[in-house]
Amino acid sequence: MYKLVIQGGRPLKGTIRASGSKNSSLPILFASILADGPLTLSNTPHLGDISTTIRLLMDMGAKFILESNSALFIDSSELTNLVADYNLVKTMRASILALGPMLAKYGEAKVSLPGGCAIGSRPINFHLKALRELGAKIEVKNGYIYAKAEKLTGKNIYFDQVTVTSTENIVMAATLASGTTIIHNAAQEPEVSELCNCLNKMGAKISGIGTSIIKITGVKNLTGVSYSVCPDRIEIGTYLVAAAITQGSITIKNTMPQSLLSTLDKLTEAGAEISTTKDSITLDMKGKRPKAVNIETGAHPDFPTDMQAQFTALNAIADGHCSITENIFENRFMHVPELVRMGANLTIEGNTIVCKGVKSLTGAHLIASDLRASASLVLAGLVAEGTTKIDRVYHLDRGYETIEEKLKLLGAQIERVQD
Ligand code: EPU
Repeated sequence: MYKLVIQGGRPLKGTIRASGSKNSSLPILFASILADGPLTLSNTPHLGDISTTIRLLMDMGAKFILESNSALFIDSSELTNLVADYNLVKTMRASILALGPMLAKYGEAKVSLPGGCAIGSRPINFHLKALRELGAKIEVKNGYIYAKAEKLTGKNIYFDQVTVTSTENIVMAATLASGTTIIHNAAQEPEVSELCNCLNKMGAKISGIGTSIIKITGVKNLTGVSYSVCPDRIEIGTYLVAAAITQGSITIKNTMPQSLLSTLDKLTEAGAEISTTKDSITLDMKGKRPKAVNIETGAHPDFPTDMQAQFTALNAIADGHCSITENIFENRFMHVPELVRMGANLTIEGNTIVCKGVKSLTGAHLIASDLRASASLVLAGLVAEGTTKIDRVYHLDRGYETIEEKLKLLGAQIERVQD
């Protein structure tokens, strides 16, 4: 087991390059099931969840090559085993994204139900309801979803709640359905748009991309393409908070600033000076302590739940009082007790954290619980006095490519050590 050991108190300075987006790469990898040829993907990050997806696809019969220029070549055009097995699905909930494409291409799928999750119960009822509306017969038994459909048929789909992977699953299923599907209350997250753009390149007919009404007209087949995945807005946001919390100044290249507007607004409100170019973001705290900022998470373009834990760390040492309200997941406060152990003054009241900023935190031995909670502990460790040790860093490795290398490049004192 590895742990991260951080000596806090150094302002981050310098330039790094953002990695490709995890949550864009995952649905696009699953979209390879729909194609009649291989997909060549560049700018995909080297992460635990990407490896799990590739293993899952290979388990179903996909062929995979990591090309010398670090592009991924994945040929899922002739699957031989239409089963997403529990042993892989249990480690990554996004495996549910195999369901829509398998059903659309092969007319059947058996996908393990994802198990429990640290951030909430995360049911999959919206995925199943919408697929049934497209004509799928679905049975859930023995921990598996058994789905069959001779032919999916386009319909009007209304989601009761904005849901990212359900929108992605239905978009993928609808690309090969007969007729037109219109998704109402669709997720507008940039990762959904990325998937739609890639599918259109593969020959799909999708319009309304980036809006709450997505229209998909089914086509007979999709082809393999080359596609470059967009930068990871949550990774970028996390490093920007790392600079803000340490009163530093950094530039991140390979970004898409327009995908992070709510995060950049909150950082500006916290006192950061931010400038952007077409593909880079520079943040300078001018050596000042951040100011407390109220946070309320929501579906895009509102403030992302995936940045809530990082802003909790920032607010913990900010000047002033604030509230942080989590509206997407019911249990996404696992970082709070650990931050309190470092001296933060945080109280949970329902789905809100009441935060009274303290001048400093002290290093402690901490346990990482889920991906973004772990990131918030790293951020707290970077600003804390003394040494912070974080156990269970495998959570971080699911979503942050070479995190300690990037932080070291920015001047942080951080090491990965084995027990
Ligand atoms: N929901 C249901 N039923 C469903 C689907 C969702 O009740 O069938 C609820 C969820 O429980 C939640 C809300 O709807 O309360 C929204 O969940 P959503 O479906 O949007 O989440 P997701 O698609 O499972 C993706 C990201 C998450 C990110 C959320 C919200 C991927 C692979 N995962 O999850 O990313 O937090 O959208 O933006 O894209 C992360 O990267 O750390 C992460 C958790």
